[in-house]
Amino acid sequence: MSVSALFLLSSLCLVITAQGKQCSKPVGRQNMQLKAEYILKETFEDGSTVAFACDVGYTPAEGSGVITCTAGIWSPVQLICQRMNCGSIGDVPNGQVSYPQGTQFGDKALITCNTGYKLVGKSEIACGNQGWLDRLPTCEVAKCLQPSGIANGMFSPRKEDYAYREVVEYFCNKDYTLNGSKQITCEENEKFKPSPPSCIWVECKDPVIPNAEHIDGSRPPHRHKATVIYNCKHGYRMIGQATLTCNISSQWYPRIPECISNGNVVVGGLLGGLVSITVMLVQNYWM
Ligand SMILES: *[C@@H]1O[C@H](CO)[C@@H](O)[C@H](O)[C@H]1NC(C)=O
Ligand SMILES: *[C@@H]1O[C@H](CO)[C@@H](O)[C@H](O)[C@H]1NC(C)=O
Repeated sequence: MSVSALFLLSSLCLVITAQGKQCSKPVGRQNMQLKAEYILKETFEDGSTVAFACDVGYTPAEGSGVITCTAGIWSPVQLICQRMNCGSIGDVPNGQVSYPQGTQFGDKALITCNTGYKLVGKSEIACGNQGWLDRLPTCEVAKCLQPSGIANGMFSPRKEDYAYREVVEYFCNKDYTLNGSKQITCEENEKFKPSPPSCIWVECKDPVIPNAEHIDGSRPPHRHKATVIYNCKHGYRMIGQATLTCNISSQWYPRIPECISNGNVVVGGLLGGLVSITVMLVQNYWM
């Protein structure tokens, strides 16, 4: 073998050993991973490149994620990944935005509307990998549609819609009684509260009280809140109240009284007295 041939052979060997210096799987810095296309390989040829990408929820703050394998050694990773920060989501006119945890990846912005406004859209928006995940909601003036009408009555004012806190008042036709709340108010949820009243026919029957006489008050028809006053005839005494009022259930309140013969009461009292004397005597006897 000639000298030149030997030289050629040895330089070939050098090239092969240098080329044979492969790199093993590279390790990145915090919060990053090899891009998907490199993940399954265990060894990398001399001169090849791979790239790191930030984990979900992290974004590149500086530097490149690309590194090169040179003679078995990877060039240093320059990339720095920091947690995604969505920053302020912006302002909502007539509303408030708060960030209970902060504005980083996974944190939520909470939006509320000032009183009298209702929220249209999402009240909670999360910070995603690329920024806030939804559009800001809007706060719109709350208004109520016309409430329902009632039988035997009406309401005022009558309009197409009503502003927040606006009051509607109900009235009953003559001789009808309003049962419920006379006024209802337009609330934030665009509904009136409480529910509308009803107009009912209230009429109490003329009381029939044996051995009593009507001495004062209403004569039939007895409407809501009419009062009547009764007295027992001579020789009778009253159990109950003398003055009655016609209540909204068309009943007299309190209950209709009774007139009881005074004679009966005396006999009853005497009997009661006798029984208690007997009991006392029996008790004394045994002691
Ligand atoms: C009055 O309204 C209330 C509540 O709606 C109802 O429960 C009650 O039965 C009504 N009263 C009469 C006498 O209709
Ligand atoms: C109306 O009067 C009746 C009988 O006195 C009573 O039981 C009822 O509770 C009263 N109803 C109202 C709404 O006051």
